[in-house]
Amino acid sequence: MTVSTVATQPFEDQEPGTSGLRKKTRAFMQPNYLENFVQAIFNATGGGAGKTFVIGGDGRYFNAEAIQKIIKIAAANGAARVIVGKDGILSTPAASHLIRKNKTDGGFILSASHNPGGIDEDFGVKFNASNGGPAPEGLTSRMFDATKVIESYAIAEFEDVDLGHVGTAGRGDLVIETVDPVKDYLALMEQLFDFDAIHALFAGGFTMCFDAMHAVTGPYAHAILEGRLGAPKGTVINGVPRVDFGRGHPDPNPIWAKPLVDLMMSDSAPDLGAASDGDGDRNMIVGRGAYVTPSDSLAVLAANAHLAPAYSGGLTGIARSMPTSGASDRVADRLGIGAYETPTGWKFFGNLLDAGKVTICGEESAGTGSSHVREKDGLWAVLLWLNILAKRDSSVAEILKEHWRAYGRDYYSRHDFEAVEPDRASALVDELTRSLADLPGREFAGLRVRAADQFSYRDPVDGSVSSNQGIRIFFEGGGRAVFRLSGTGTQGATLRVYLEQFEPADGDHEQDTQEALKAIRNAAHEVCSLEAHLGRTEPDVRT
Ligand code: G1P
Ligand code: ZN
Repeated sequence: MTVSTVATQPFEDQEPGTSGLRKKTRAFMQPNYLENFVQAIFNATGGGAGKTFVIGGDGRYFNAEAIQKIIKIAAANGAARVIVGKDGILSTPAASHLIRKNKTDGGFILSASHNPGGIDEDFGVKFNASNGGPAPEGLTSRMFDATKVIESYAIAEFEDVDLGHVGTAGRGDLVIETVDPVKDYLALMEQLFDFDAIHALFAGGFTMCFDAMHAVTGPYAHAILEGRLGAPKGTVINGVPRVDFGRGHPDPNPIWAKPLVDLMMSDSAPDLGAASDGDGDRNMIVGRGAYVTPSDSLAVLAANAHLAPAYSGGLTGIARSMPTSGASDRVADRLGIGAYETPTGWKFFGNLLDAGKVTICGEESAGTGSSHVREKDGLWAVLLWLNILAKRDSSVAEILKEHWRAYGRDYYSRHDFEAVEPDRASALVDELTRSLADLPGREFAGLRVRAADQFSYRDPVDGSVSSNQGIRIFFEGGGRAVFRLSGTGTQGATLRVYLEQFEPADGDHEQDTQEALKAIRNAAHEVCSLEAHLGRTEPDVRT
C-alpha cells in the first residue's frame, strides 16, 4: 500500500457547528478541503493507529466519493478496521449503534441532516466518539485548532473499495467490513419494543403513512414497518434514498412535510402519520387531525414510556434542550425524576446519558431519543409511539388531549428568519444581550418581563461550562421567548425566535397555536427591536 503525504494549507472556516462541519457541497469538493478536516480529526484524537471506525452517511450527493477518501485517509493513518454501511448508507442513529455495538474508536457520519442535498446544496461531516455520540465541545474545539495548523495529510493510494456488497475486503493492513445498514439497528429495535403488540395493531387494521422524504430512513422503514411489523405495502412513501432527496428539504416538519400533514388533516387520514429527515435522526408525529409538536411528543413519550419493554422499569431522568418547551419538565416532576436543561445540540446529552442520569432526551427541532444510542433517533420515536398506541386503546389526538388535561399545555412555535446579513443578526443579539439586566419589570407589547438571561450551562458530569447558548426572556403569565442564532446554516445567519405560552391543566387547550402565541410574539419583536434590525417582521419558516 502506497501512502502519500500531501502538503496542504489550512482553511479558515472549518469550525464545527451545532452538529459537525456543514458547508456547501462544492466547498467540500474543493481540493484538500475534506482531506484537511478528516486529517485534523485524526490529529486531534491521537492518530488512527490500530483503531476501528464506523463510516457511513445519508446517501446525499458526494457521500460515496467522500467515503472512499475517508477510507484512504484512515488507511494512511494506520487504522486497523473500518465498518462501512453497504453503498455507504447508514442512518445517524444506526451509525451510533454500530460504534457502540462494535466497541469502536468512533465514526465518521456524512450528512447535513435535514438540509437539501446536491452539488449546489449542502454536505457535512461529523465525528462521533467511542460512546457513539457527537464529539463533545472540548473535542470539536481541538479539531478546529488542528484545522488551523495543518500542514499535510496522509492518504493511501488504492482502487476505490466496492461497497455494493456485504462482506470483507483488505487494503494493506486495513480491513474494510461492509455491513447491512439495517440489520443491527432492527435487532436493537426488537429488543426495545413490544413488536408482537405492534404487529397485532397493524393486523387489526391500524393504518399509517410514513414519509421517508427520499432520504436514508426508506430502507429502514420498509424493513421494519412493512417487513417485520406487517404494515401494509405502501405504508412507507418516498422510501428510496436519492442523492438530492427528490429535490426537497428532507426536514420532517409541517412546512417541508406539508403533503403528509395535509393528508393527516383530511378525511382520508390514516391513524398515524410520521416522517423522518435526511439522516434519520429527526421525526415528526401527526395523528388524525392532530399535529404533535416535538416538545409535546417528548413529554408524551416520557409519560408513557413504561408501556415499552425497554423502559418498563422507569426512566432515570429526562433532558431537553433549552429552547424546547417545559412540557417534559412537568412529566419528570410528576415521575419524581431529574429534569435537565441543556444547550441546543445532541452532543450535550451524551454525558448525561453515559452517566445514567437520563433515559430520554429531546429537542424542539424534531429530535427525540434515548439511552439506546447516543444520537436522536427518528424511527425509534415512531416505534415508541406505535408501542404506546398498541398498548393504549386511544388515538393520537386522545392521548394528546388527555396529556394536556393532566399536565397543562404549552403552546409552542419556532419562527426562523433565514439568510439574514450576519452583521445585522449579531447587532440584534448584541444589543439584546446588553439590555438584559434592565429588562425585568419592563413591559413590552403589554407583557411584563419577569426575568431575562443569556443561557449558560454547566455540565453536571464533567463540570465544563458552555456560555452564550441563547437569550431567554420570561414573561409574567407563563410565557417565554428565546432568541438564538443557528449553528447549522450554510448561508448568512438564521435568527431563531422560540415562542412558548403555558396554559394550565384546567385552561383552554383548543386555541390556534399562532393565535395563542400572538402576545408573546409581539412582545418578543418589541424587546429586540426586530423590525428595526432585520427590516422585516415575518419569518421564513414557522414550525
Ligand atoms: C438545529 C436545531 C438543533 C439540532 C441541530 C442538529 O441546530 O435547532 O436542535 O440539534 O439543528 O439537528 P441550529 O441550526 O439551531 O444550531
Ligand atoms: Zn438529522
